[in-house]
Amino acid sequence: MRNYMMGAAVAFCSLLPASHSLAWSGSVLVSTPNTSLLLHANEGEDLRFAFFGDRIEENQIHQIHDAWDGLNRTAYPTFGSPANQLFALQAVHADGNWTTDLTVDQVETTEEDNAKLTAITLKDKAYPFQVKLYYRAYKDIDMIETWSEISHTEKKTVVLKRFDSGHFMIRRGDVWISHLHGSWGDEAGVTTEPLTPGIKLIENVDGARNTHIDHPEVMFSLDGKPQENEGRVIGAALCWSGNYAIRMATDNNFVHRIFAGIDSETAEYNLAPKEVFATPKLALTYSQEGLSGASRNFHRWARHAGMLHNGNRVRDILLNSWEGVYLDVDEEKMSQMMEDIAAMGGELFVMDDGWFGDKYRRVQDNSSLGDWVVDKKKLPNGLENLVRTAQKNGIKFGIWIEPEAVNSKSELFEKHPEWALQAPGRSLIYGRGGTQLLLDVCNPEVQDFIFGVVDNLLTRHPQIAYIKWDANIELRNYGSTYLPRDKQSHIYIDYHRGLEKIMQRIRAKYPDVVIQACASGGGRANYGVMPYFEEFWVSDNTDALQRIYMQWGSSYFYPSNAMAQHISAAPNHQTGRVIPIKFRCDVAMSGRLGLELQPSKMTEEERAQSTQAIKDYKTVREVIQLGNLYRLVSPYDRKGIASLMYTDDAKGKAVFFAYKMDNFVNQVVPRVCLRGLDPLKNYRVRELNVKTGNRPCFLDGKTFSGRLLMNTGIELPLGGDYASCVLELTAE
Ligand code: GLA
Repeated sequence: MRNYMMGAAVAFCSLLPASHSLAWSGSVLVSTPNTSLLLHANEGEDLRFAFFGDRIEENQIHQIHDAWDGLNRTAYPTFGSPANQLFALQAVHADGNWTTDLTVDQVETTEEDNAKLTAITLKDKAYPFQVKLYYRAYKDIDMIETWSEISHTEKKTVVLKRFDSGHFMIRRGDVWISHLHGSWGDEAGVTTEPLTPGIKLIENVDGARNTHIDHPEVMFSLDGKPQENEGRVIGAALCWSGNYAIRMATDNNFVHRIFAGIDSETAEYNLAPKEVFATPKLALTYSQEGLSGASRNFHRWARHAGMLHNGNRVRDILLNSWEGVYLDVDEEKMSQMMEDIAAMGGELFVMDDGWFGDKYRRVQDNSSLGDWVVDKKKLPNGLENLVRTAQKNGIKFGIWIEPEAVNSKSELFEKHPEWALQAPGRSLIYGRGGTQLLLDVCNPEVQDFIFGVVDNLLTRHPQIAYIKWDANIELRNYGSTYLPRDKQSHIYIDYHRGLEKIMQRIRAKYPDVVIQACASGGGRANYGVMPYFEEFWVSDNTDALQRIYMQWGSSYFYPSNAMAQHISAAPNHQTGRVIPIKFRCDVAMSGRLGLELQPSKMTEEERAQSTQAIKDYKTVREVIQLGNLYRLVSPYDRKGIASLMYTDDAKGKAVFFAYKMDNFVNQVVPRVCLRGLDPLKNYRVRELNVKTGNRPCFLDGKTFSGRLLMNTGIELPLGGDYASCVLELTAE
């Protein structure tokens, strides 16, 4: 007989020794405003996963079981247990036993400020070994975070060979996945495919950055081919910055089984008695409003649940120096760029790579990383003078660092060669410039050094308001001079735990400095680092046309105030494409707006248009950066256009973007239906960033009901090559 009691109400501790069967039974319902996750256990048995989807109430728990007996399979399968299936956990016990068999011992719940935390303790039937499964359900956000804590009191070390954060099931049907895939310069491309029998694996083994190729995030569309605004969608994001594996197994048992966690093929963890191994969080959401609905849940969670540092603040409009001068930084150019961005209405200037190095000057990309002192030849009056110039121009100042890296041509490497990761007896494998190496962030001394780099900069120059934190190398030389022999297999994990420790120290002391996560572009767009960073650099590729695809994909999981989008030069430095300045501005305006060029080389038209874009952006920045995103027409659907919009919570203001993706004679441009408005309100249209010298488009100044805008749609002023438009809608 099943027991449908709520877990919290029936939780009790077993006082029996571990070798006796444990006696908890009941159901555990974990709910957010619109979603529920249901688990249950029969007496002395394993924890079962029953359901995840639309919200149910406590008194409806039995309906899930009555309807189809739930999915009803082990919630955290272990190797060697009677379930005999793919497993989330594999442990070799101190006596050499490879099997683990867990039953539910107790269930506890804790009320947090904005969430309820459920902890389910699972104990092995025969060994003093336990797994605590956590489920944090937000009270006002449709997001459940789940993770596990593994510990034991066996006589010796237990070897963890697999240790997933979480596992869940989806009923088989016409289930499709959308996930992000790419490479340098082409990050976050959306790949869409049906889940078919067999195992689909999304894995990353870069070691240091994990989103250049695949992302640790997946959307599951339950009603066939993914739609942006219709259909049921489950979204999953693993909050980890290191190697990961997401496995999706489909067999003839009517379920897709999804496992997500740190990649255990590249790491095996030796767990000492009483040590607690906490896996990263797996964030789960569910929406009935298509992919865009699931994205809005991720964005809300990122902004309001601390998954994005200062997530609910708007960001400054900046000029970054990289594509403007590359390494050719000097005082005169920096001052000129600051004057120019200030004159255009910008609010922040960021000096990129090239400003540092004393004995070894950073004139090429083959030296000086690690030597974070000003190059006095380039900047004779130091950072002090640059900060003063910024202040004179009424803007803020920011700076680039890559503190986890070192060049073999550096004073740091001469002093501390042992601080670089290195495999004993092997020649060093170098990265960028033929000399770049990664520091051993597992080592507390290195952690202190990296914290010190930031701390020194910010104590000496408290005016520094922004840091671009780069990471341009993967973890190649697998070996730590710090970790003992039996912990060498922890490097891929301890590196990221070390990084977290550094970031926690930085954030405790400098909560307000804005920090960008850059990793040769978008290599670190993950919810492992995001709690410590305000934004990420979407890609080193600033070509506006290709950016539409990359920004589209990034927005599946990340909010717009986290996505750095810069107007750059024509021809574009990566693709050579020449794109009109209005289109370049309109594409950058849909996220965190910035510029990435040498203003002194801009044409009059480029300068005027960018100045206009900045001016108009300021008037709608809150809606774009903090609003609710509706992706309307996907560039991946090849309809000739791409379109998206943001609304504020009150549905009083919206900003709409549309871009022409191709241009052919007699091309039919689709009419676009808007979303997220109030059908009963009337909205007045104002065109933003009107093309220099042109009159506003035919929609400007007109008023339309929300109902017409959403149900009938509007024609778009998108004639010609690279046509684009940005419209503000204000409820009257
Ligand atoms: C990486 C970044 C760029 C730039 C350079 C500087 O490639 O992605 O934006 O900062 O490093 O070397």
